[in-house]
Amino acid sequence: MIILGIESSCDETAASILEDGKLLSNVVVSQIDIFKSYGGVIPEVAARSHLEAILPVIDKAFQDANLLKDGESDWDKIDYIAVTHTPGLLGSLLIGTLTARTLAILRNKPLYAVHHLKSHIYSNWLDTNEAPVFPLISLVISGGHTQIIYMPEHNHFEIIGTTLDDAVGECFDKVAKILGLPYPGGPSVAQSAKSGNSEKYRFPHPTVEGLNFSFSGLKTAVLRAVQKECGVDISFPSHELKNLLTKEQISDFSASFQKTAIDILLEKLSHALREHPDVKTLVFAGGVSANAELRRLAGIFFAGSTLKIHFPEPKFSGDNAAMVAMACYYEIKSDVKPIDPYSLDISPRSEII
Ligand SMILES: Nc1ncnc2c1ncn2[C@@H]1O[C@H](COP(=O)(O)OP(=O)(O)OP(=O)(O)O)[C@@H](O)[C@H]1O
Ligand SMILES: [Mg+2]
Repeated sequence: MIILGIESSCDETAASILEDGKLLSNVVVSQIDIFKSYGGVIPEVAARSHLEAILPVIDKAFQDANLLKDGESDWDKIDYIAVTHTPGLLGSLLIGTLTARTLAILRNKPLYAVHHLKSHIYSNWLDTNEAPVFPLISLVISGGHTQIIYMPEHNHFEIIGTTLDDAVGECFDKVAKILGLPYPGGPSVAQSAKSGNSEKYRFPHPTVEGLNFSFSGLKTAVLRAVQKECGVDISFPSHELKNLLTKEQISDFSASFQKTAIDILLEKLSHALREHPDVKTLVFAGGVSANAELRRLAGIFFAGSTLKIHFPEPKFSGDNAAMVAMACYYEIKSDVKPIDPYSLDISPRSEII
């Protein structure tokens, strides 16, 4: 079974080919360099960049997979097409879904519309010797989402916790802006935190009931602490704060913020595990799961328990199409039927359906 995956939900244009769960190719063209100078993604620019990149990226996926006939992409080899249909930036999603629909119609292939968060979870099945065992709990931590999801088996998802406001990745990005660190914020904060003292500043943990999260207060707490450290009041332009901070202060703020964010995530996870004692594996997913300190502290936090902890390969943490193809592979194995390419609904939704 050979699946072509296509992903374009935010600022990565990606295509991948998967044969029976084994990766044949994985092409990702990132728009990071375009958006570095803006300090964030501009949706219209992202959509135009997807439009330019998508067909060459798909061609490259065929080349890397060595699926060529007379030097051209060999479409006869493809059994299914899978595409991210929601959630994401509307213009960006449109490029991927229109491309996939058109190819499905022209090449007469069954089309699967895959939820983006489901794909992030399935990044844990890529290039691994030890696939996660069910039942599992997945913590999806990305630029737009922070969710705890219970999975009793393949393709069954129960959202048991979610953020009430900002996502944790978004919080990393906003704190990076306050500290004057470059886009994308998560990796910059993580890098700066390496030489910082994580005990230097104390930030409160939000008091959100149950398994839900809130990260907007943490971002504001960092802002207030930076203002206090710089000796300015709240009317001082936040984009100028960076000029008043030393490199050492930036590192200490990065490390203290990162530690607080990780502690909040791990505390909620232990709460979720207490409520679901049947869980055998804890699966991290999404861009923030690339964070090395999170990986280290999660290992320490859950050391001594029988729980298996699974992180995706860092190269599969962010957006890519290999995870889309893998999620599709398990949809097909779970007997999910393809969709009508003429009627694909891409209205952005966050819940996994
Ligand atoms: N090492 C890291 N530490 C912390 N955060 C990180 C790291 N690497 C990436 N991130 C964060 O991950 C996020 C991007 O992840 P991802 O690509 O999964 O999100 P998205 O696709 O934009 O959002 P969503 O998946 O919710 O639609 C950004 O917020 C980025 O700052
Ligand atoms: Mg994503």
